[in-house]
Amino acid sequence: MRSLPYSVAPRWTAVLLLWAAFCGLFVPAAAVKHENFKTCDQSGFCKRNRQFADDVSASSSWTSPYNLVPASLSFNKGQLEATVLKTINDVGEKVPLPLIITFLESGVARVTLDEEKRAKGQITLRHDSKARKERYNEAGQWALVGGLDPAEGAALSETTDTGYTKVVYGKGGNLQAIIRHSPFSIDFQRDGETQVKFNERGFLNMEHWRPKVEKPVEEKKEGEEEKKEEEKSDEPKGEDESTWWEETFGGNTDSKPRGPEAVALDISFPGYEHVFGIPEHATKLSLKTTRGGDNAYTEPYRLYNADVFEYEMDSPMTLYGAIPFMQAHRKGSTVGVFWLNAAESWIDITKVKNTANPLALGMKGHTDTQTHWMSESGILDVFVFLGPTPQDMTRQYGELTGYTAMPQSFAIAYHQCRWNYVTDEDVKDVDRRFDKFSIPYDVIWLDIEYTQEKKYFTWDPLTFVNPDQMQKQLDKRERKLVAIIDPHIKNTDNYPVIDEMKKKDLAVKNKDGNHYEGWCWPGSSMWIDCFNPAAVDWWKSLFKYDKFKGTAHNTFIWNDMNEPSVFNGPETTMPKDNLHHGNWEHRDVHNINGMTFHNATYQAITERKKGEVQRPFVLTRAFYSGSQRSAAMWTGDNLAEWAHLEASLPMVLNQGISGFPFSGADVGGFFGNPSKELLTRWYQAGIYYPFFRGHAHIDTRRREPYIAGSPYTEIITQALRLRYQLLPAWYTAFHEASTTGAPIVRPNFYVHPEDENGFAVDDQLYIGSTGLLAKPVTKEGADSVSVYIADTQPYYDYFDYTTYSGAGHHTVPAPLNKIPLLMQGGHIIPRRDRPRRSSGLMKYDPFTLIVVLDNDGNASGTLYIDDGETFDYQQGAFIHRRFDFDGKREILTSANLDVSSPNSKALKYIKSMEKVRVEKIIIVGAPKGWKNKESVVVMEEGQKESKRRKPTEIEYHAAEGKKAAWAVVRAPKVGIGRGWRIDFGDKGAGHEHHGHEH
Ligand code: GLC
Repeated sequence: MRSLPYSVAPRWTAVLLLWAAFCGLFVPAAAVKHENFKTCDQSGFCKRNRQFADDVSASSSWTSPYNLVPASLSFNKGQLEATVLKTINDVGEKVPLPLIITFLESGVARVTLDEEKRAKGQITLRHDSKARKERYNEAGQWALVGGLDPAEGAALSETTDTGYTKVVYGKGGNLQAIIRHSPFSIDFQRDGETQVKFNERGFLNMEHWRPKVEKPVEEKKEGEEEKKEEEKSDEPKGEDESTWWEETFGGNTDSKPRGPEAVALDISFPGYEHVFGIPEHATKLSLKTTRGGDNAYTEPYRLYNADVFEYEMDSPMTLYGAIPFMQAHRKGSTVGVFWLNAAESWIDITKVKNTANPLALGMKGHTDTQTHWMSESGILDVFVFLGPTPQDMTRQYGELTGYTAMPQSFAIAYHQCRWNYVTDEDVKDVDRRFDKFSIPYDVIWLDIEYTQEKKYFTWDPLTFVNPDQMQKQLDKRERKLVAIIDPHIKNTDNYPVIDEMKKKDLAVKNKDGNHYEGWCWPGSSMWIDCFNPAAVDWWKSLFKYDKFKGTAHNTFIWNDMNEPSVFNGPETTMPKDNLHHGNWEHRDVHNINGMTFHNATYQAITERKKGEVQRPFVLTRAFYSGSQRSAAMWTGDNLAEWAHLEASLPMVLNQGISGFPFSGADVGGFFGNPSKELLTRWYQAGIYYPFFRGHAHIDTRRREPYIAGSPYTEIITQALRLRYQLLPAWYTAFHEASTTGAPIVRPNFYVHPEDENGFAVDDQLYIGSTGLLAKPVTKEGADSVSVYIADTQPYYDYFDYTTYSGAGHHTVPAPLNKIPLLMQGGHIIPRRDRPRRSSGLMKYDPFTLIVVLDNDGNASGTLYIDDGETFDYQQGAFIHRRFDFDGKREILTSANLDVSSPNSKALKYIKSMEKVRVEKIIIVGAPKGWKNKESVVVMEEGQKESKRRKPTEIEYHAAEGKKAAWAVVRAPKVGIGRGWRIDFGDKGAGHEHHGHEH
């Protein structure tokens, strides 16, 4: 395991450990090393702000020292500017804080608060630091890509000298911000009702700059004892400065050249009982309270990207990535905040009962959720979203930070990884075995051992003798290779990459301005600083095929350890006083660091060879808001335990609603050896992760799907086939995510925002807009699951059409060979039924449509397809259809959703798909009246008159017990890219019937 970094562990220990592991004698206790990571109490600013909150709450006479100066206020083109003064002492000394509130066209409001003195550089740094003096204000440059147009219609509606200022904004002026002057606070209202409150509790805290006042150190005389606590107690207390100027943790001292500089604010959601978001944590979807209450955590949720391997379940501890976006939800309304800050952050959550009159207007709940956000540095920068739907949240947040990049189609198929496939022959052997066992897979992965001594961009010449040939074999079946490249560069001789990086001065620096050196996989290493555009340019050059020899068009990249992970650094990462490009301290940019790295890799892959155009694929472990534009993520080093399988579902769901839906967990669990049952169940769950990859630690036994043996291998193969069969539905869901921000897998509250009983449900998921509802088995020995149904539509078992109806819990059988999957009535699901070895080989396969009728006998659905590889889809080269089954007229139609006028690229693509047809249509819940029907009439656009109306056979299967009736049209043969109509109406084959409206 990694308790000691490999290269620093004494050799004999490593040998012993390996021997013990080999003999199966040594089962390392798998538990997170708590002592490596700070608690709030050990993180100075968190402790100070929590204490501040407690003091404020305990005092009856206290008022917040922040006041807006009415005379400073101006409003112009959707933007309000003013100065807030913070009174800092008894003599009334004041610190000016420039406030800007921008009301955006999208209905989102953005509040920023800076500190004038720091912004103007009128402070002195300690220790001759070269760091920047300003509060970091560039997070937006990395996270934001749009949605920033100010609202033309926003207007100042009222301002009084002392009281408050009111701004009306949003569509039709239904939103308002009420900015109170003294003390400064803001209420955000929708339709006259307050949804979000800033500084209601008075926790706003901008730790202003102050010089360090050196106190005379009392010399201790020989023999004199340290003063006892009791003796000290009558001394004046003052503020606790112990964490202002220096902090030491785990043997590392942070020099803090700017002193205390935290920014904190309380944000309340009146009437909202549930809050979601702020990944990444191994916790429930509906976030727990952190300061008392039932089942509460004692620590706040932490966001400080870190390599927390063997992480613990049900915990607010930080993990590898950070998205400071939170949504509050109640019946009838979803609202949210995005705290744009890249420094270490903590969030406390409390819930309090309110006394809202249940009969009052609106549907407010009886609980208020109050949150307290604390960041170590940076400006205050918060976006407020007023909904009212969950779809508004994901769309508006996506407008700001970007939507998920449309991946290549292989990227959403199955990935086979382990640490490590040890030789190129090993890779080829695994590849052949998948074929031998007829198990589909698309991508095989190489972990760090493929390199020569962990020098990235090299191959170990002894083990990977012929990477080109290896990739050629993969390419035969359209398969890909993903190789790992980490941000730490081995600090060694005769390695051109480190030489160049040093020479060009592209590495992160330590506080003294020298290249920072730390330990990671290769031993002594330095870290590329992707905040530096010159470093990104250089990085791009390394991936050119003639530079990174042995890579090919089917090689893609995995970026790991980019939090960054530093084995000998504080909290396994970099010292906060390290310096990045522009002399920003690492402290300011920590949570963005990983994103700058995978962005650079993404760009590099687009430029490997002139003229080669394909969508990159990059997997990242660290992430921030905006990572969705260039990468997929996985949830890091989990354990082969049932609890980790269970926790992966809320984690993946949370990624979905937080704007980064291309996510998954290591299938099988990274550390440890899963039982065959656990492995099988994990595959059955993993097929529902948007990013679906099996992975395992170097010390684990091999566990490729063909190894488990009968019946496990067959059952896992069935699961994989189900993923492949439904790839058209998945691809359509990805397309939706890439254009609207909607999650790829969706929690109950997102699909049924009015269903209060389902708000906290996080162990089942909907796939895109398909109505497919999956409930993976996450308990050992289970032979059924309880599926929660939120509405009154019929839900049909995917495999045998057993019907479940009625809101509430339903028991669905789930013996080991059964994957609980239901279809909600009302949808048309596209799929491809022919088993293939890889998704690339399915490109021209025909489609099957499953028409799942709702209570009224209707259904509809969409299908999106494109070449799955290039960017031509951005120029119209795609097929986007909408299918509708009209129950009254009994007509199924395919209509074009592409509104653009076709150009040559589009026409070429359509032509290439001309022969791709619908080979089967299944109607689930088919009307009884079809009992004796023998044929339906198929009409396709662009067909000759004589061929226009074609009777085609239909087969009807009557309902049996709970199993719904279904019908199948075996060979409609209509083009997938064409307009067509199939008439199931009474009059049957050959009869003219015009319209047949009721
Ligand atoms: C980290 C990654 C893991 C990988 C290992 C070796 O622990 O999280 O997935 O296998 O490093 O590269």
